[in-house]
Amino acid sequence: MVYTRLFGLAVAAAALAAGVQAQGTTNLKACVPEGQFNAGANVDYFPEKSNLAQQDASSSISISYHNYYKVVKSLLSGANQTIVLWQCGTQRPADVVADRFISVPIDDVAIGDTTIVPYIEALGGRSTIKYSSAGQYTGSPCLQALNTTQSLDDTNEQTQIASVDTYFSFMDSANANATNYVSFAATTDPGALKRSQWIHFIGAFYNAEAIANTIYSQIADNYKCLSSAAKESAPSTPLTVAFASYSNYQGKSTWSLSTAPYVNDYITSIGAKNVSVTSGFFSEAGPFQQAIKDVDLLVDTSFGLSSQDDLLKAYGLTKDSDYKFIKNQKIFTVNKEQNLNGGMCKYLRSFYDRSAETYTDYTLSKIAWFESAVLEQNVVLADLIWAAYPNVQPNYQSTYLKNINDSTVKTLAPADCTDRNAPSAIPNITCPKPVKQGGGSTGGSSGAGSLVASSVGAIAAVAIGAAFAL
Ligand SMILES: *[C@@H]1O[C@H](CO)[C@@H](O)[C@H](O)[C@H]1NC(C)=O
Ligand SMILES: *[C@@H]1O[C@H](CO)[C@@H](O)[C@H](O)[C@H]1NC(C)=O
Ligand SMILES: *[C@@H]1O[C@H](CO)[C@@H](O)[C@H](O)[C@H]1NC(C)=O
Ligand SMILES: *[C@@H]1O[C@H](CO)[C@@H](O)[C@H](O)[C@H]1NC(C)=O
Ligand SMILES: *[C@@H]1O[C@H](CO)[C@@H](O)[C@H](O)[C@H]1NC(C)=O
Ligand SMILES: *[C@@H]1O[C@H](CO)[C@@H](O)[C@H](O)[C@H]1NC(C)=O
Repeated sequence: MVYTRLFGLAVAAAALAAGVQAQGTTNLKACVPEGQFNAGANVDYFPEKSNLAQQDASSSISISYHNYYKVVKSLLSGANQTIVLWQCGTQRPADVVADRFISVPIDDVAIGDTTIVPYIEALGGRSTIKYSSAGQYTGSPCLQALNTTQSLDDTNEQTQIASVDTYFSFMDSANANATNYVSFAATTDPGALKRSQWIHFIGAFYNAEAIANTIYSQIADNYKCLSSAAKESAPSTPLTVAFASYSNYQGKSTWSLSTAPYVNDYITSIGAKNVSVTSGFFSEAGPFQQAIKDVDLLVDTSFGLSSQDDLLKAYGLTKDSDYKFIKNQKIFTVNKEQNLNGGMCKYLRSFYDRSAETYTDYTLSKIAWFESAVLEQNVVLADLIWAAYPNVQPNYQSTYLKNINDSTVKTLAPADCTDRNAPSAIPNITCPKPVKQGGGSTGGSSGAGSLVASSVGAIAAVAIGAAFAL
């Protein structure tokens, strides 16, 4: 396999221990040729290293380097694995204890969850995806396009999994014993940016640490810049924001307010505050209504509620109820981007409801919120800023959030793929000038503050990954 770098990237400044020779300046994109590996030679085969530990010392992922192999750990419960990735053409280390031993760089994978797709695509590895048990549900236009000429179907799942280097999935108990099963747990990682950090995890499998470093820095820098503009724009009395949902599973109505740390991150990152609850799970409408009484902006994540009337009915409210988010027209949903099959992205075998301590099977929730939004935390934050403070990014087009009354959805189809061989680009949102909001939590629908047209909410997409030329 030839691997063509599209962008030259700075080599990670890795301090080499005395006596260790670097194999070159970049990580290998192929195997060490036969006969060239000498275990005693003290050669560093991974001159490009992940900088995740420097970026976030409390990350749920750790990656350490040992000349010809690396040890990748995911430390979350439910995804807890120690994985040895050894350079192809060297040797599998004999005296290391691990759950998995995989030779790298990997060049073919199977996937069981569409959340992984944006990570692989951003790194330039789309063409390594050979099988997907996530079927028709991916939102990725280019993966859909690839599937039109080369079937990705899982016709014989176990044989297919056994035939590839790595099977990435999450909570797939049926295949968890496969020796190449790797648990991809971005959606259970608690913090917002921690979800994006899984780019480092995937990058290690492709020897693509340098690209992963660049992608994560771009997302994190953009997120932080957007956050500081939002905090400076926040009214002196912060808005109260809640992410709520309604479920009617097996005919029983329940309501919840997300208490997930990543959702709290979004809320605090825009200078807003959350509601205070001891549990976010409600089996009765009354206590739920009480909990959202002072909410200024409500994001509904129920998927099935497509109009304000439906939502109010599900919440046990009416358009005349004395709730600020109703009066101020601040009700948003997360389903603006959907796949062409009328909704999208398989996945959420894994939606973890922390308050109820349960994982919910939302397998057929075909919306991009559960796919690309998991990686693109900067875009999620920009969307929330747009929803909360509309005059800060007046020309901004949201990606995931939309007003519940807005019936315009963006469907993601093969025709939206411009180059199926190109790495996908992570949007870089123009960081707006702050516009101090007047009014605060008692303010009117448009928020006070003059409409300043100086900040154009433009999106510059930056392609960072590499292309695989097979
Ligand atoms: C991860 O697995 C190790 C070894 O099985 C165990 O000691 C540790 O407690 C686990 N950690 C979590 C967070 O589950
Ligand atoms: C690939 O196309 C087939 C046939 O249309 C479809 O059944 C399947 O769900 C598609 N898979 C993906 C990953 O798009
Ligand atoms: C996986 O291995 C465990 C431990 O040996 C076993 O209990 C479990 O049944 C296996 N799961 C499958 C799906 O084979
Ligand atoms: C709000 O934030 C507090 C403090 O971080 C936390 O304890 C509480 O669970 C949060 N509430 C929600 C609904 O997330
Ligand atoms: C939705 O439209 C209705 C009817 O025009 C309006 O009363 C309501 O305030 C709107 N809601 C939002 C969230 O914009
Ligand atoms: C992203 O945009 C910011 C300004 O908002 C800019 O400083 C930064 O260089 C951009 N990043 C990339 C990778 O283009």
